[in-house]
Amino acid sequence: MHIIGVGLGSPSHLTGEAIAAMNEVDVFLVPDKGERKSELLELRRSLCEQVIEHDRWELRTISDPERGPDAERDDDQYRAGVAAWHSARVARLVDEFRGMPDGATVGFLVWGDPAFYDSTIRMVDQIAGQMDLDVRVIAGISAIQVLAAEHGIPLNAVGGPVHITTGRRLVEDWSPDQGTVVVMLDGHLACRGLVQRAPDLQIYWGACVGMPQQQLRSGRLADVIAEIEQARAAVREELGWVMDVYALVSPRP
Ligand SMILES: C[S@@+](CC[C@H](N)C(=O)[O-])C[C@H]1O[C@@H](n2cnc3c(N)ncnc32)[C@H](O)[C@@H]1O
Repeated sequence: MHIIGVGLGSPSHLTGEAIAAMNEVDVFLVPDKGERKSELLELRRSLCEQVIEHDRWELRTISDPERGPDAERDDDQYRAGVAAWHSARVARLVDEFRGMPDGATVGFLVWGDPAFYDSTIRMVDQIAGQMDLDVRVIAGISAIQVLAAEHGIPLNAVGGPVHITTGRRLVEDWSPDQGTVVVMLDGHLACRGLVQRAPDLQIYWGACVGMPQQQLRSGRLADVIAEIEQARAAVREELGWVMDVYALVSPRP
């Protein structure tokens, strides 16, 4: 089993190690999450076509179990909902694996890096508890790294921490001691909730980073939040979806 981080959609984000691992895979399994995600499915197929040097590979979709309305859940309900969804996914994958020939190499192509807000490694750990698997993880370029590179910034202050979190937790947990805070999975620009408390934070925001539709904005949080809201809405309007990530950096004392 190869869990391969593929970066953010461009073949130029694939590392040499990722390309070598992709060439070893017989069957790529892709959770099929419906219409919007079928674009991502085609993107994965295109990556495979561009870098795999033989034609013995196949890309198989597995229909994803329904996931509940996360936004309406409190933290406990959210965690329970995610756990139930993971178990249902695992059950489907175990069935799929049992039908594979002995010794087949299965691949998961993970967006960005598998270590950041991705459930594939945890899911594969659960599968490995039920059958004999040899698992390798290959690092990929994450949205976090591309955001920092495109803005041309280091994330940490000298010797300082970097805190990575979600929009869901940002406002409740935020404290200046966290150092730079990187926020992913934020459907509503939760940083708006910090404008009163910490207007001088510097925000480095990016939508669709590393992709042709990339949008970047940066500046003092209180000054640029409205512009970021507009830019975010414009991307969503154009594509029907938007993925964004941002870093909040404390101003120098
Ligand atoms: C499920 S997480 C996956 C993160 C991924 N494993 C990584 O390393 O980038 C999805 C979140 O990553 C961020 N993200 C992924 N791709 C992005 C992109 N191209 N531009 C901006 N943010 C992105 C967004 O915050 C999005 O909500």
